[in-house]
Amino acid sequence: MSLILAIESSCDDTGAAIIHNGKILSNRISTQPIHKKMGGVVPELASRDHHKNIVYVVRAALEEAGIGIDEIDAFAVTAGPGLLGSLVVGLSFIKGMALAKGKPIIEVDHLRAHILAHFIENDKPDFPFNCLLVSGGHTEIVQMSAPDSFTLIGKTIDDAAGEAFDKGAKLLGLPYPGGPMIDKLAKKGDPHRFLFNFPEAGGFNYSFSGLKTALLYKLKAELKSDKGFIEKNLEDLCASWQYTLVEYLLDRFRKALIEHPAGHIGIAGGVAANSYLRARLNELATELGVKAYIPDFSYCVDNAAMIAKAAEYKFDKGEFAEMNLKPFTRHNR
Ligand code: KG4
Ligand code: ZN
Repeated sequence: MSLILAIESSCDDTGAAIIHNGKILSNRISTQPIHKKMGGVVPELASRDHHKNIVYVVRAALEEAGIGIDEIDAFAVTAGPGLLGSLVVGLSFIKGMALAKGKPIIEVDHLRAHILAHFIENDKPDFPFNCLLVSGGHTEIVQMSAPDSFTLIGKTIDDAAGEAFDKGAKLLGLPYPGGPMIDKLAKKGDPHRFLFNFPEAGGFNYSFSGLKTALLYKLKAELKSDKGFIEKNLEDLCASWQYTLVEYLLDRFRKALIEHPAGHIGIAGGVAANSYLRARLNELATELGVKAYIPDFSYCVDNAAMIAKAAEYKFDKGEFAEMNLKPFTRHNR
């Protein structure tokens, strides 16, 4: 029996959620519009906005759940990976609340929480569970053999998949974050119009930075003879870029699955909101005779419900953090 308040502030979204015995009672998120204007996340502005938003977001989560702060058994927070200044806001906030209320704190790893989002709903995957984690800052193929056992099978050696969507979108003159815009425009385009080769990164690893350069050179060459090339071909460019990124992701994921089999597979992270990736994962699962798990949209992009779920596993095992818990920017798995 546990009632946990969890906070997510690793990047540019301030989230608060409450979980009670496996059930999410509330899941609030406040997205920071300032970064759209800046064309990307500005760390200093992100931490200042977390500061402004956090009290309101937590209050809204408590109100929606109909819970008083004194009823909370533990306070959970994302400790990393993420932006240092942003993480510090969430960490300081829960430490303050935990000290004031005499309750323990729980440290949550943002990436593991993205994968554990699969365990929020009633229909949970069985182990081994192979998950393709694709977010704005990370790209990993992970095999889970228990709720607290994660084996890294592959990862990007440079940019993340979300970054590739966003950087491609920027080259096409689309606003940040570019992923959702590409998804939308790609629906009307021809995915086979422009072809890009899949880079080799060894093992089941990815490399996205060369792909971005290939797109840049393609656009530069076309714009030389036709200044309106991007506008005239925007939908086809989006469809082809999305096709390349998703097929590349699934090609390596598929190879990893053959060497590291699992009956249940899934996708997680912000890019898992991509409609083409969601559809293609289902096709891949059918082809391989395995079951695909795709989280609800609200549990793919950054959210505090996944932090609450990850915290609950730790609460049940009595794994609490010390009050000198520090944030971390990178993963060292
Ligand atoms: O997991 P997330 O919300 O934040 C991080 O932890 O990074 O992921 C954000 C990323 C951004 O790069 C955004 O462009 C991408 O997820 N994204 C999408 C879609 N929705 C969000 N990429 C492709 N298609 C989408 N529909
Ligand atoms: Zn994330």
